Amino acid sequence: MSGGGQHGLFSGFPKKRGNDVSDIVDNKNRAVFFDNIQFIYELILGILELESFGVEIIPCKDYRSFEILNHSDTEAIARRSGYFKVIDGIKTDYSAIIKYNRTRSFNQYLTHWFYPYKGKFHPQMIRAVINIIGLNEGETLLDPFVGSGTSAVEAFLQGIDFVGVDVSPLCVLLSKVKVNSYKHIGKIKELKKAVQYEEIDYKAIEDKDVSSFFEIADMIAKSDSARRRKNYKNAFLSNIEKMFLSIKDLYEVVDKFIKKVPSSKIEMGDSRELNIPDSSIDGIITSPPYSIALNYVLNDKHALEAMGVDISSAFNDFIGLRGRGEEKFKMYNEDMYKCYKEMWRVLKNGGYCVVILGNVVFEGKEVPTVNIATEQCENIGFKLIDSIDKIIFGLYNVMQREYILVFQKGG
Ligand SMILES: C[S@@+](CC[C@H](N)C(=O)[O-])C[C@H]1O[C@@H](n2cnc3c(N)ncnc32)[C@H](O)[C@@H]1O
Repeated sequence: MSGGGQHGLFSGFPKKRGNDVSDIVDNKNRAVFFDNIQFIYELILGILELESFGVEIIPCKDYRSFEILNHSDTEAIARRSGYFKVIDGIKTDYSAIIKYNRTRSFNQYLTHWFYPYKGKFHPQMIRAVINIIGLNEGETLLDPFVGSGTSAVEAFLQGIDFVGVDVSPLCVLLSKVKVNSYKHIGKIKELKKAVQYEEIDYKAIEDKDVSSFFEIADMIAKSDSARRRKNYKNAFLSNIEKMFLSIKDLYEVVDKFIKKVPSSKIEMGDSRELNIPDSSIDGIITSPPYSIALNYVLNDKHALEAMGVDISSAFNDFIGLRGRGEEKFKMYNEDMYKCYKEMWRVLKNGGYCVVILGNVVFEGKEVPTVNIATEQCENIGFKLIDSIDKIIFGLYNVMQREYILVFQKGG
């Protein structure tokens, strides 16, 4: 057989390839993936991210980087990118931002680690999706199921105004603390020791923004002692210390990387009926409640009860928890249809709505939540632009895969 892969099954790699890694020492004209990138969906989002910046690329031989063929403003791209550590020889802002991390987990940098909330977004993915849907400073992102506030922090870090809604008072408090506490760092520093030495009760602090910081430290400690059997008092004291270091980090990041501090409006509400004007939102990124996959009320029962929530009535307000058996899915679908209609109403014409959602496994059968959501959205008038399949780990018994569904209104 002759060389060059002309015969047999293997017909050769694409002819057009970028340079070998060793050919370029300074990474000029290259976009280099972060070392943590390992999934197909990340490769796709990385490519889409570069394309959304108008960059033409070809893969390099290491398959972890691309040669940039046609772009001039690579400095601006290096400020925004989420999946690349170097763009055209310039270290990205994100490669510096993620180093402000007080935990051992790659994606728990800055304030992301506050509270062990189950079912969080991967922050790096949200940064990239914000870029892919083309949101810029001065524009507004909505997350109608804000949860632990991942999208709130990521919009903030890119200087994008944010509107977040959640039915859970814990989620609203947590998301606000993640983006706002750094503004009150002086007062928090002043009162920190007094709270730790029990000279004052944080609940008596009048400034709500300051007392909320300590309340979240309290909630994390409650969760640590309920779920991990940690000593409550020790956990509370060390949470305050570690949270303080994280808001100090955010303070520094704002100073170094954020030109104009954006607004973050996070409120309690029911996303079946949003208190937001028509056509006022530039983009939506959200992950709706996963039907029966996660019970958000029971997961955070200790914290919600401490906040005075009546657990039995909360079941009626949280989507996916109403009803039993088959009826539960019917109610979930009805509720979500209302939510998608609201998302359509508040989004500007031409705006993108990204829904991250999985099919749930119930009594051994897969429920086609993703198809139902797609049909509902198309019925309302959304156009499905892309559907990116994303395998998830850790929820095997209830959900194996989720999809990043990209819809557009008009356009
Ligand atoms: C999948 S979680 C969102 C997680 C979020 N993406 C994050 O990174 O933390 C779904 C959220 O929907 C909220 N939710 C449930 N029913 C709701 C409703 N009727 N209105 C608004 N939020 C609701 C839950 O409290 C939960 O926080």
